[in-house]
Amino acid sequence: MLNQGLTPLFDAVKKYISDNVTAFHVPGHKHGRGICELTGFLGEPALNMDVNGMDDLDYYNNPTNVIKEAQNLLADAFGAKHAFFLVNGTSGGIQTMIMSVCKPGDKIIIPRNIHKSIINGMILGGVNPVYIQPEIDERLGIANGVTTHKVKEAILSNPEAKAVFLINPTYYGVTSDLKTIVDITHKYNMLTLVDEAHGTHMYFHEEFPTTAIESGADMCAVSMHKTGGSLTQSSVLMIGSDKIDPESVKQALNLLSTSSASYLLMCSLDIARKQLAIEGHKLLSNTLYLARWARNEINKINGLYAFGKEMIGRYGCFDFDETKLGINVRSLGYTGYEMENKLRKEYNIQVELSDLNNVLAIVSIGDRMEDLSKLVNSLKDIASKSNIEIYGGMISPPKYPESVICPRDAFYMNKKLVRLIDSEGQLSGETVTTYPPGIPIICAGEMITKEVIEYLTVLRTEKCHLQGAKDTSLGYIKVLDTPLR
Ligand SMILES: Cc1ncc(COP(=O)(O)O)c(C=O)c1O
Repeated sequence: MLNQGLTPLFDAVKKYISDNVTAFHVPGHKHGRGICELTGFLGEPALNMDVNGMDDLDYYNNPTNVIKEAQNLLADAFGAKHAFFLVNGTSGGIQTMIMSVCKPGDKIIIPRNIHKSIINGMILGGVNPVYIQPEIDERLGIANGVTTHKVKEAILSNPEAKAVFLINPTYYGVTSDLKTIVDITHKYNMLTLVDEAHGTHMYFHEEFPTTAIESGADMCAVSMHKTGGSLTQSSVLMIGSDKIDPESVKQALNLLSTSSASYLLMCSLDIARKQLAIEGHKLLSNTLYLARWARNEINKINGLYAFGKEMIGRYGCFDFDETKLGINVRSLGYTGYEMENKLRKEYNIQVELSDLNNVLAIVSIGDRMEDLSKLVNSLKDIASKSNIEIYGGMISPPKYPESVICPRDAFYMNKKLVRLIDSEGQLSGETVTTYPPGIPIICAGEMITKEVIEYLTVLRTEKCHLQGAKDTSLGYIKVLDTPLR
């Protein structure tokens, strides 16, 4: 282990500030003097930290000293071979992974309940998806992990595919059997790439599901900002095996990255890594305690179900991250959207996301007992004023439709608007996503089915947040202007 108490990048920035240098470099606010209102609100230290690449502070696109040292410390803390700081979130890391291992025309095998950044990565790289249907939990109406059996089937039918891309864990906390899948992919000469946007904390406590690096995956990206304590947008791309050339990854990263990476974001990564390495276990023991306490209390409330580890072994759930506090609210007579709204408007609580049937609260190292108590008490209050009914009609996402035209070709084709109700059998010209969680209901190039139209109609009626559609009310949808098959 390297000395995880060090913060080389943060120290270099502090030294630069204390040197009181006269700055003739960007950013043009010059230590905050050029934007007084923001400096007044954030405070001088924050604006002083907002500097740019220079010899003292290293260069993001080709790090050789303090950024490199900070990245090496991070790789060491996570058990990875190499690490790259990301200032465009895990979205940027996902696109980099795809661009660095695939050429245009290559295939990757992926579960269809992926985040839209993977689709965007395939558009950029001209890569073709081979989709695996995730297992659907009909009781909760959510898509979970993929079975090893389905992954193996996809590998055998597409032996030329470059990689299998997995999510560990899903937004709702569910993991697939990553270790076995890594072994299978390697046996068939494929790579395993992992979207660990929701898994940073899992590296620092043994009571969480297995991580990508532990499983022997070749590359992964983690959103340190989501559950690791760093600032929003700061993530990390890690290499876990010798099958990946760090130089190719650096090239792909530079293709997609700014040349003015934020030192506030990068310093927050340096500090968050130190905190996780030194205190992570203790902090996460407390986080787990809070999440378990809240789950237990919520499950005593008539009409609510906070799902957890009992899902393991069923519904495509190999293991479960208990800090994802998903609560099924349907038996109280509410949709998840209504419950989210109620919690925000009447109880001053904001959850991470809602869907038709559930709300999801993320419990993390920043939470306190009083916050979890407030959530539990608010839910008790709501339940006491509601009529409990056993809700039988859980609405699940539709079976993911057939992908006919690859994402990049669909992106560049001509499109036209048609009424959603008349679009069955046509190829979608846009990728329509509920956000969060950011999983597309239909992707550009996929065949619009009756179930997709019905599901989108329900989402529209329930006023859920939809992204990607030109007509945001979804009366119309863009389709590819190409003859029907
Ligand atoms: C499963 C999943 N992957 C990737 C991302 C993208 O992460 P980021 O916001 O760090 O770009 C998200 C964001 O919510 C996500 O939920």
